[in-house]
Order: sequence, then C-alpha cells, then structure tokens
Amino acid sequence: MKKSVAALKAYQAEQPLAAIKDQYQLETLARLSANESVYGPTPKVKEALAAVTFDRLNYYPDGSAQKLRRAVAQLNQVDPAMLVFGVGADELIQLLTRLALEPGQNIIVSAPTFGEYAIHAQIEQAETKSVAIDASTGHVDFEGILAAVNDQTSMVWLANPNNPTGVLESDPDIQGLLQQLPKSVYLVVDEAYIDFADASDNTVVPLLADYPNLIILRILSKAYGLANLRIGYGMMDVALAQKLNAVRLPYNLSDF
Ligand SMILES: Cc1ncc(COP(=O)(O)O)c(C=O)c1O
Repeated sequence: MKKSVAALKAYQAEQPLAAIKDQYQLETLARLSANESVYGPTPKVKEALAAVTFDRLNYYPDGSAQKLRRAVAQLNQVDPAMLVFGVGADELIQLLTRLALEPGQNIIVSAPTFGEYAIHAQIEQAETKSVAIDASTGHVDFEGILAAVNDQTSMVWLANPNNPTGVLESDPDIQGLLQQLPKSVYLVVDEAYIDFADASDNTVVPLLADYPNLIILRILSKAYGLANLRIGYGMMDVALAQKLNAVRLPYNLSDF
C-alpha cells in the first residue's frame, strides 16, 4: 500500500437524513454541512425521470454522454469537446489530480476551502501548500498564492465562491492570477456555487479561450437540487479534455 494512503482516514460521509431525523426527533432538516437544497430540483426533473422506460438496462450507457454534452455546451456556450463529465465534481477532482500530479509535486489551495483537493493530492503523494485567506475580508490572498508557486507546483485550486466562506472573487482578480502563473501550472476554478452568485456575470468561462491551463468545474448537486444524481462536469482546453477522458472510466455516468 502507498504510504500516503496508509495515513489516510475515510471521508466521513453524511449520515442518512432519516437517521438524523430519528436521532434528534426532527420533522424537517436542512443539512447545511452538505449545502444541500431543501427545495429539491425543478418539477421538470421528476417529469423526465418518470418518463424513463427501463428497457435499456442491459446496454452500457453512452460513454461520451452526447445528449447531456450538447445541452451543457449550449448552456455555457462552449465547444462540446471542451467538456468532461464525472460522478459529481468529486470525480473530476480525483481525475484532474490523477492526471496532473507526480509524487513530490505540490498543489496550492486557499485556506479554508473544500477539503477534497488536498485529500486527492495526498493520495498522489503530493504536498498541499495552504495560503490563508485574508482574515478581515475573507478574500483569497492572490499575492500569497503566487509567492507559494515553485518549480514543483502543478495545480492551484480556487473554489469560487469559496466553500465554506461563500466569498466570491472577481473575474479580473482571477485573470490577474492566470497572467502571472506559469503556463505549466493548472488553475482549477471550482464554480460549484457560482449559480448562487449570478453565474453568467461571475463565471470565468470567457477566459477559457485564452488560458489553456484554466479548468472550470460545475456541479448539479446544490443550486439544481440534484445531489443524488451524481453529475458534475469540467470545462477546459480540448486537448486537455481528451487526456482527462483518457484517464476516466469509460462508462462513469448512467444514462438515467
Ligand atoms: C466546492 C465544492 N466543489 C465540489 C463539490 C462536489 O460536488 P459534487 O456533488 O458534484 O460531487 C462540493 C460539494 O460539497 C463543493 O463544496
């Protein structure tokens, strides 16, 4: 077993809702620790699921998710070939780390932030360098991140808006970081919560054309109320997307 894995503890997944309700005798429960929607998805989702005929269960799903790919490409106005789908953004985080990190390299994260970036770096035997957010404003310390970059840096992770602070960084600040980062360092902007911050105004999707080292993650779990469907995606340079597709499992998403 890798030493890095021997030291790892299993992720503490959320307790089932029913179990928590029973334990605390609750009628309603908003599980804020998971940032789940208490409203659920639009009724159209239930309609679409109710219309599913289960007559293709014996066939493998469409491994390149063509129908979803076309819809998501149109929604974000990107080339469909720039998209990679995963079992939630969780899988994209795992895949990107697997693709990019050699043992002994490092990633840079702003702290505090979503814990999975560091967990996957650890599995790949890489170091995580944490740069504290500005304690008075909650904003990312972009200068600090740039100062932490060295020859071993492979990735910078930026959740925008950040989890757990909710603070949103501006497009010009993120572009400033991209301008100064070495081209060999990937910047992953995790836009898991961008729909809560007016996605079309605040996304860095328009920067994809100019920065092949920029990767953007999106999820359906929170604002779309679909955490149980486990679908997330990444948008990136076409050549990089092809490589990421090469490291993912061929049938990672079910058709239903
Ligand atoms: C910042 C951030 N990125 C990614 C994820 C993972 O989302 P998904 O449900 O798509 O795996 C989460 C989930 O909590 C998150 O908070």
